Amino acid sequence: MKNRKISKIKPLSVKGRLLKKQMVAPDKCLLSLQVDLSFPAPQPGQFIMVKPSKYPHLLLRRPFCIYNFTPSLIEILFQIVGRGTEALSLLNLNEEIDILGPLGKGFPPPPRDMDNILLVAGGMGIATLSFFAQSLSRKKASRKIITYVGAKTAQDLPPIKPLESKHLSVKISTDDGSLGFAGTVVDLLQADLPSLLPHKTIIYGCGPSAMLRELVKIIDPKTKCYLSLEERMACGIGACLGCAVAIKGKGGSLSYARVCKDGPVFRSTEILW
Ligand SMILES: Cc1cc2nc3c(=O)[nH]c(=O)nc-3n(C[C@H](O)[C@H](O)[C@H](O)COP(=O)(O)OP(=O)(O)OC[C@H]3O[C@@H](n4cnc5c(N)ncnc54)[C@H](O)[C@@H]3O)c2cc1C
Ligand code: FES
Repeated sequence: MKNRKISKIKPLSVKGRLLKKQMVAPDKCLLSLQVDLSFPAPQPGQFIMVKPSKYPHLLLRRPFCIYNFTPSLIEILFQIVGRGTEALSLLNLNEEIDILGPLGKGFPPPPRDMDNILLVAGGMGIATLSFFAQSLSRKKASRKIITYVGAKTAQDLPPIKPLESKHLSVKISTDDGSLGFAGTVVDLLQADLPSLLPHKTIIYGCGPSAMLRELVKIIDPKTKCYLSLEERMACGIGACLGCAVAIKGKGGSLSYARVCKDGPVFRSTEILW
């Protein structure tokens, strides 16, 4: 693995409070968490580990990307898939939440000479890419920033409102064709790639591993691509090795990296699928 910049942001373990809860779909929840003003501003792509303080049976915090951040407010957007996410979705306003973060290494900013910045989100991968897109759009450079968002059906589509701004454009795909392009988000991207210069294009992706694997297959070797990986996590700080993934080490040999500490964002060429 090439030397990757260590995040200078020191993670904090803090108590937050639930300020607002919105069920944005029957199985998707957006939580606004109030934290102390001293909570460090995260880089896009970083994540936090979270659990409700009142449930001692939930031993481990769960990892979530940062969907939005303003000083003293963190937002997370998640799908309810099991015990931890269900417990979070059932919290009442003002209840206490254990938060550890910001963690991991975020997305490297696109080099200045890139004309096209493409963000490719499968399902809940939109959470981290939405935050990144908004941060890029504030830089106001005259570059195309397109977010490709894929979902199974129109009903499953995560919220895309934050991506509707002057400097951003959004393209949608649904597997069943109920909204936007009919097919996968990778198919949608593939249709656009021939019109873009590979060395002037940078791609950032987040979503299920199967989708990321397909994404890597269609990318020109001259195009830089960074992927945010999701692995089951226990400690979130690089201590337990529970989130190790196989990557290319020196000379292409097999090596391992911790998604929580060395990632979650990796160069696509580093990953061994
Ligand atoms: C760095 C990182 C950022 C993440 N950001 C988000 C986010 O912004 N929004 C979001 O909805 N989810 C996100 N996830 C996934 C989320 O952490 C899991 O869905 C959650 O921990 C499941 O907890 P649970 O107790 O509800 O489910 P469990 O009961 O632990 O598991 C239920 C099901 O979810 C699957 N699952 C559990 N953990 C993961 C995981 N890490 N990746 C993929 N599948 C998993 C299990 O295999 C199982 O099928 C992220 C994961 C990581 C590692
Ligand atoms: S979760 Fe413990 S090392 Fe990554």
